[in-house]
Amino acid sequence: MKISVVANCLLLCLVVLKCKGAKILGIIPTASYSHQITFQPLWTELSLRGHNVTVITTDPLNNASLNNFREIDISEIYDLFRNIQFYETISVNPVYFWKIVLLLRNICLELATTLIENEELNAIKNEHFDLVIAEAHFPSIVGFIGHYKCPWIGVSSMESSLQYNVAIGNPTHPILHPDYNLPLENLENLNFFERLLSFLYRTLYIFVINTYIFPKLSTIYDESGWKSPPLIQVQNNISMLFVTTHPIFHKIRPSLPNTISIGNGMHFKKPHPLPEDLKQFLDEGKNGVIYFSLGSNVNSNLLTEEFKKAVIESFAEIPHKVLLKMDGEIQGFSENVLVRKWLPQQDILRHPNVKLFITQGGLQSLQESVVNGIPLIGIPFFGDQITNVNRMVKKGYGIKLDRRTITKELLTKAIKEVMSNASYQETAKAMGEIFRDEEIPSLQRAVYWTEYVIRHKGAKHLKSPIVDMPAWKFYMLDVLGFLAIILILILFVIYLLLRTLFRRLTLIIKKFYLNVEKERDTTVKKDK
Ligand SMILES: *[C@@H]1O[C@H](CO)[C@@H](O)[C@H](O)[C@H]1NC(C)=O
Ligand SMILES: *[C@@H]1O[C@H](CO)[C@@H](O)[C@H](O)[C@H]1NC(C)=O
Ligand SMILES: *[C@@H]1O[C@H](CO)[C@@H](O)[C@H](O)[C@H]1NC(C)=O
Repeated sequence: MKISVVANCLLLCLVVLKCKGAKILGIIPTASYSHQITFQPLWTELSLRGHNVTVITTDPLNNASLNNFREIDISEIYDLFRNIQFYETISVNPVYFWKIVLLLRNICLELATTLIENEELNAIKNEHFDLVIAEAHFPSIVGFIGHYKCPWIGVSSMESSLQYNVAIGNPTHPILHPDYNLPLENLENLNFFERLLSFLYRTLYIFVINTYIFPKLSTIYDESGWKSPPLIQVQNNISMLFVTTHPIFHKIRPSLPNTISIGNGMHFKKPHPLPEDLKQFLDEGKNGVIYFSLGSNVNSNLLTEEFKKAVIESFAEIPHKVLLKMDGEIQGFSENVLVRKWLPQQDILRHPNVKLFITQGGLQSLQESVVNGIPLIGIPFFGDQITNVNRMVKKGYGIKLDRRTITKELLTKAIKEVMSNASYQETAKAMGEIFRDEEIPSLQRAVYWTEYVIRHKGAKHLKSPIVDMPAWKFYMLDVLGFLAIILILILFVIYLLLRTLFRRLTLIIKKFYLNVEKERDTTVKKDK
């Protein structure tokens, strides 16, 4: 017993030692704050555990107290997103699904070009890494990952995109699990047209990646010295996929054991005291304070004049204080509204006087609200916001408003409804209880599985056989074809038999009638 304990301890130490000091490269290229903050605790924790961590990010942490931690700033990607009108395009009507495919194509190539032009990035071209942790979102980073010829983990601050679910072998049925980039309204019950769109989108997207984006990317990376094996092989070489999903916020979906859910609010920060002026504003809001923020990606240039007017006029007539986060200048708010360019959202939502959160429906915002039992009004713009808000309405802890048809009356009515009907808050509280009920904190899970991949130099033993299976085998085209041929043969034989039988029968019947006629003829002759 004692010996085995000692042996176990030794083993544990070995395992821990073996994993110490791995060189990890993280890359999150999406220019979006919520995509970045989700993984900041992971980078911090990994470096505190003795790994040498390099992170390529659009929003550096700049935490000087971390020793073996280095950040490469790629905030120029924000300009790229602005120029390419990324958020404007993905908020279009789903009928224009091909526009989204085209946008993804453009952004993939431009993203790769921007990355390889970054000097700091070029400086790490010849370094060795034991593990790459990369955002499983756009295809662009695949060439980049392939260059380092080491195991890699895909991570996403929401559900993973279609491409990487396909890569790891998770089911990606276009009707059951449409891609989140497709702005479909009612995910639980798609109509025929939406099902058709989702099918076409899924087929077209994967086709465009494999036949157009990957070859183009290969050329871009190759020409600038980022040598990589064939990109499809690198993509399918993914060891694990970390997804920020939770049954409250996402449709239940089967996934393989190498897909790890880290959806329990890994980005939650420890409470900080609020700045004095904000604290006073919130303390005075005895009637209940409304917190309004459309997140970091919905900038004021996405808002129409009618939208701004509805918000200003509605807030002027309600008996509540409003704390409003907005990047640009909007003039004309009433006395009860405090506008700031930035606000400490998590700490504000912890304040007991905040009774309603008006949001664009980003996953992190929903998590932060629900964990404090605060109901919401969702005004979605694009991406997963649409499904997030629809799901919220279905669960009963909020109301949805359409940004295109919003008016002062509709907004005021929605605020009154959520503020006066206790069921929204009760449901939000119940959801918060479920959300907090976790087996292991997500950060611990993420760290464990990251070190697992480092220890075993990948996770080949968890790889699904579907990944290397050609489509014809998966869809059983050979088997179905074979059975179809057999069926056709059987039908053909039956046809032949029936034809022969029919001919024989006709002959017999003809003979019979001929005989009858002959007999009649002879009897007629006889009679004569
Ligand atoms: C900075 O690093 C220290 C550890 O050295 C950590 O405790 C702290 O939370 C980090 N700060 C942020 C903002 O992540
Ligand atoms: C981490 O890696 C970088 C790049 O190889 C190196 O310069 C640095 O000294 C390493 N840091 C530690 C603490 O090992
Ligand atoms: C696949 O991953 C292994 C490590 O797990 C690595 O050695 C190999 O080079 C990778 N292959 C490709 C094609 O990326």
